[in-house]
Amino acid sequence: MGTSAAGFDVQGVNSGRIAQRLEELARFGRSEASGGGWFRGFGTEAELRAREWLRDLWHKALGLEVRVDPAANLWGTLPGRETLPALVLGSHHDTVPNGGQFDGALGLVLATEVVQRLVEVGCRLRHPVQVVSFTAEEPNPFQVSTLGSRAAAGVLRGVDVRGAVHIRTGVSLRDALQAAGGDLDRLNRARLDPASVSAYLECHIEQGKRLWSRGIPLGVVTGITGIYREEVVVEGEANHAGTTLMADRRDALCAAAELVLGFEEAVVRGGGEEIVGTIGQLEVKPNAPNIVPGCVSLILEVRSPDREGTAKVLTAFDECVRRVEAGRRVQVRRVRLLDQEASRMDPAVIGALERAAAGLGEPYMLLSSMAGHDATHMARITRAGMLFVPSVGGKSHCPEEESRMEDIAKAGDALLRALLILDEELDAR
Ligand code: HGY
Ligand code: MN
Ligand code: MN
Repeated sequence: MGTSAAGFDVQGVNSGRIAQRLEELARFGRSEASGGGWFRGFGTEAELRAREWLRDLWHKALGLEVRVDPAANLWGTLPGRETLPALVLGSHHDTVPNGGQFDGALGLVLATEVVQRLVEVGCRLRHPVQVVSFTAEEPNPFQVSTLGSRAAAGVLRGVDVRGAVHIRTGVSLRDALQAAGGDLDRLNRARLDPASVSAYLECHIEQGKRLWSRGIPLGVVTGITGIYREEVVVEGEANHAGTTLMADRRDALCAAAELVLGFEEAVVRGGGEEIVGTIGQLEVKPNAPNIVPGCVSLILEVRSPDREGTAKVLTAFDECVRRVEAGRRVQVRRVRLLDQEASRMDPAVIGALERAAAGLGEPYMLLSSMAGHDATHMARITRAGMLFVPSVGGKSHCPEEESRMEDIAKAGDALLRALLILDEELDAR
């Protein structure tokens, strides 16, 4: 395995310990129902308990100095031998509703393992090494995804989210952040000084099936898709489901159904292979069997490697909205929630990951990410890169999400090697 500049033989990662930690983290938010998945949405009890577990692990098992920034991002630091900007390894510990065991969790467990290997052989790198778990990576009822990494990159300011509340419970983002150790009034101070970070490296499950279907154990990410999200509110008229004649109705759900299909058509017509669109969330009001639906709110997202792709889909959808408004006598209001540009990973980090994989004798594939990641924001302020592990059957954001331990161990070894390469090569003496 890798020998650091200081001459330490770091060896490979400990796969038994990785498996055990993945199980430990999986205790938080696991559904009791058989076949059930995980839910550690931002602000939930399970999410807060997972934070505590990580904090303890980094402090007690790794002996790191751990701090929580105003965005409630959790940071652990292993000092370096020289006064240099940090090499950061990270991911997120929150999950989607009824999600899987590995999304985010794998990156944190492998980052922890890599640092633990350095600690247990007494190896200090030239650079300080930091581990980070970013707050609220996944979409959540506060309508702010990748909150932590956006704040760290300085692209989300306190003023942007000051009034945010949980759409169902009414709990303020301010209170939720405070419960996690953050401080909305000081959110701007979560911003990292770009001069303090040398590179950001994130290991993650692929979540698609490009690696799995080719039987390739490692993926080196070249770029991350852009994501556009908006809330579409359809206002019709609630009325009695028995006495309101069909001709008199302004049914918001029927209108929403046309919008959903029209949107799909807009995506398919306007798109290329890497342009996708989804309406995955709908709220019907008042949602009762004997009331004509009066209002439906839905959230749509478009993912595209460039702005032109998104624009094409949205132009086609605009026309669909006008048609449905006129045909069904409803009003449609649209609020943009996210307009995140695609990003490119850094050539130095890509190169280090490629050489790490090649040095291990493992096949790897260069690929783009069609899932969003905290790395997309870190790429705005530092050299960022990602390493992917195959997802069994390409499944993710569902309880069946899985990656094989043999692939995970290879990724751990590659991550460790890449870190040693970057430590050698970046910020040359
Ligand atoms: O939505 C995403 O792509 C990511 O999994 N958060
Ligand atoms: Mn996810
Ligand atoms: Mn993720």
